[in-house]
Amino acid sequence: MASVARAHPNIALVKYWGKADDELIIPVAGSMSMTLDQFATTTSVELTTGIDSFELNGTVADANATSRTTVFLDLVRELAAEAGLDTAKAPATVISHNEGPTAAGMASSASGFAALATAAADAYGLQLSTKDLSRLARRGSGSASRSLIDRFAVWHAGHSDATSYAEAISAPEMAMVSVTVNARAKKVSSRDGMVATRDTSPYYRAWIDTTVDTLDEMIAACAAEDFTRIGELTETHAHRMHAVINASHPPIRYLAPVSWQIFEEVSAMRDDGLEAYATADAGPNVVIICRPDDAAAVAARVAPFGQTTTFAPGPGAQLVDPA
Ligand code: PMV
Repeated sequence: MASVARAHPNIALVKYWGKADDELIIPVAGSMSMTLDQFATTTSVELTTGIDSFELNGTVADANATSRTTVFLDLVRELAAEAGLDTAKAPATVISHNEGPTAAGMASSASGFAALATAAADAYGLQLSTKDLSRLARRGSGSASRSLIDRFAVWHAGHSDATSYAEAISAPEMAMVSVTVNARAKKVSSRDGMVATRDTSPYYRAWIDTTVDTLDEMIAACAAEDFTRIGELTETHAHRMHAVINASHPPIRYLAPVSWQIFEEVSAMRDDGLEAYATADAGPNVVIICRPDDAAAVAARVAPFGQTTTFAPGPGAQLVDPA
């Protein structure tokens, strides 16, 4: 019988950008995110006798995605071997569906590896805590460690496999409005972009230091339920991430002209008394945070720039009954 899990993407308010350990995916600094309530990935894992296979959205996945899945399953099989389970050598059939628009840059690797970690651990007979599932998901994609967690998560950078994991943090109610823009920005994967930034950006050290400080300030702002401070920290931090990336050689630009227009519009909203703050990941789409009651007004103001979706905080990864 297959094990099935469902996980949602997350959007970071304090970003992860840079690895201290490429193999274990230990980040140079901690990060903090909101798990979304839509665009879930549902993944089923069933042990088989043939070879590993991976089907994504109804078609056989490409060689790159299949090999990333096998490398990840090898980690799960290693854990099964350590636990003395007789599943340790079994290949698996993995079938995955994304509810979000494919390749719209909405963190599908985070929901994907969070769902895969949860389903695969169950299929191989491992009994892992949420913390240990978060550590496992981290090995597939760093940001996936945070999608194990309900609502808001802090990923502690740690200094080893055992100490680098995400856990819940409480934060005031807020909404996110994503704006999926039409711009086709040149695609540099986050993996490659992080390496280029580390190796060539002169501001890398400053970026690490400011991220450590920003996370401390963000945790304090969450504890104080200070939405304004959370928003200000989020927007400034996003600009700092893009600045350190832009300063790579050759330069990397994830934001498109329309992304900057949206940042301008969000600033204009604040001038008009509509409190909203913007952030963006490694791509041209912009995500705006606001109070839940303001989400409709915010979405209306940015609708001319792209397709908008409004999110509330969502659940962490969980097993679901096979259909
Ligand atoms: O987990 P990755 O390797 O896809 O990296 C995610 C990087 C950002 O989305 C830009 C920031 C973050 O913390 O999610």
